[in-house]
Amino acid sequence: MKKYKPIIDDWDAFKAESDEHPVNAVRKNPLKAKEDFEEKLAERFQYEKADWADGIYRLDTESPGKSLLHWRGEYYVQEESAALPIEVLDPKPGEKVLDMCAAPGGKTTQIAAKMNNKGLVVANDESSQRMKSLHANVYRTGSAIVDATNYDARRLPEEKFDRILVDAPCSGEGDRFYETFTAIDEQDSRDLAKLQFQILEKASQMIREGGTVVYSTCTISPIENEGVVQRAVDETELELKEIETSIPHVEGVDSFEDLDYDADMSKCVRVYPHHVNSGVIFVAKLEK
Ligand SMILES: C[S@@+](CC[C@H](N)C(=O)[O-])C[C@H]1O[C@@H](n2cnc3c(N)ncnc32)[C@H](O)[C@@H]1O
Repeated sequence: MKKYKPIIDDWDAFKAESDEHPVNAVRKNPLKAKEDFEEKLAERFQYEKADWADGIYRLDTESPGKSLLHWRGEYYVQEESAALPIEVLDPKPGEKVLDMCAAPGGKTTQIAAKMNNKGLVVANDESSQRMKSLHANVYRTGSAIVDATNYDARRLPEEKFDRILVDAPCSGEGDRFYETFTAIDEQDSRDLAKLQFQILEKASQMIREGGTVVYSTCTISPIENEGVVQRAVDETELELKEIETSIPHVEGVDSFEDLDYDADMSKCVRVYPHHVNSGVIFVAKLEK
């Protein structure tokens, strides 16, 4: 991981965090949560509310999935930082939204909740195995406006959408952070970057004029993050937009090792594990 030292804002805090456990967090599901949600939560867990978004609770437990509130879909177990892409996508009731890489459905169900089950969400994933958990999560959370499809996102049939999420398959240096604190092979990142760009390019064709595309990953690698966004800005009709958020973060980078990107990449958001005791997340907001 040492190669990332130049782009980490507080190296000591970042390194120290790798010896910790991420704090387990859940997202309240307003489609299912009852009025006594916080009372019931307090009966089972000690909790603290995140202050940068509504409905995110940090719990003092290793097993947030073992509770009636989870089984009944009143909350969804989700890393705190993973809630950011949909805060940025900001889907509205009545819209038509595409989630191109959706399984197991954490962000899909967050989209349906934000839309108050009004409109349409198409949740797509290439993996038929992972589609099973997507279906189960959509059902459990009462996300009634979700239709699921099983395509390679690059070959989705032509349709236009108001908002599109590309929560891309990635090397997951963020996910592995707490376990190994090792970087992944650079060639793996380059291979993934090709696929990530092709999916984002397809999103640029499927978004309506003026529509919003959010690109997110859970990796630190600039090759899979700013590198992919740079190609999208250079080679498609997508334009990078400013993100307004109060989650602790640093800006996207304009250089890394021998790679240079536009200064505009500062509009992207990087959340590191030490920022909110959670996984890495990278988010870019684009508009056509
Ligand atoms: C980061 S995960 C998505 C997590 C999901 N958005 C959530 O919040 O629960 C990336 C997903 O991309 C899927 N995937 C990989 N290649 C794909 C492709 N070519 N087209 C569509 N989905 C793909 C994987 O099966 C995986 O489920």
